[in-house]
Amino acid sequence: MYSLFSEQGSAEAVIERLDKCQDPRIRQVMEAAIRHLHGFVKEVEPTMEEWMAAIQFLTATGQMCDDKRQEWILASDTLGVSMLVETINNRSKSGSTEATVLGPFHVEGAEVLPMGANICRDGEGETCLISGTVTDIDGKPLAGARLDVWQTNGKGFYDVQQPEEQPEMNMRGIFVTGEDGRYHFETAKPVPYPIPTDGPVGKLLERMGRHPYRPAHIHFIISAPGHEAVTTHIFVEGDPYLDSDAVFGVKKELVVPFHAQDGTWSAEFDIKLAPRA
Ligand code: BEZ
Ligand code: FE
Repeated sequence: MYSLFSEQGSAEAVIERLDKCQDPRIRQVMEAAIRHLHGFVKEVEPTMEEWMAAIQFLTATGQMCDDKRQEWILASDTLGVSMLVETINNRSKSGSTEATVLGPFHVEGAEVLPMGANICRDGEGETCLISGTVTDIDGKPLAGARLDVWQTNGKGFYDVQQPEEQPEMNMRGIFVTGEDGRYHFETAKPVPYPIPTDGPVGKLLERMGRHPYRPAHIHFIISAPGHEAVTTHIFVEGDPYLDSDAVFGVKKELVVPFHAQDGTWSAEFDIKLAPRA
């Protein structure tokens, strides 16, 4: 016999019904979800109107999703959950470069470019040279390391956000290191930009009194044979949004000085990869 529902024992009444759940992980996850959800409702005591507004938010968030737009990931990002999951899952890779969020704008199938090539295909923005060395955690250069890089154009938009205006694969490329582990490429200096705000997550940010901006950054996925891949960014030192990134992606080690000389910017970023577990 199961317990009848009561306000005080609400979570327990639902958790009891997991008694025939065969999968221990599902049981653990659902027990915690029910406990926290009931605790949240007891703390907030929503009115019926507020509860319906929450249901409408969840519905609209799902309805905004298609193969080009993932509003749920945006919700997870802006509530700091993506960074928490990322951080928990990268705890063991000590010594490697810090990871940060992938974000929704990575595209598979970017071209492998000759070392030193320019990924800026639309001529927007200020010229910028990025270079560094990929090593193992002991500092030994890694040959054959693959750097998949992408960023917005000089106006703060990804190519996939402006398919009519930007050349295909603008601001994207893959570079593969030689024996010395060195890499370098040319791009446009990254600029801060807002995450998409035309959906329910944008409205929620506004209601919370938060801005939608990400500090200027370049995305990297770095992989090498026998090593754990790292998904990360470099951020521009001095950017006004470093301490209020809309998706909480900034880590101190990833903030890099950019220097200007004769009208060209440059930045160095060395990358360390841990051996594959
Ligand atoms: C990005 O940096 O591309 C990004 C990350 C999270 C949410 C939206 C955009
Ligand atoms: Fe980005």
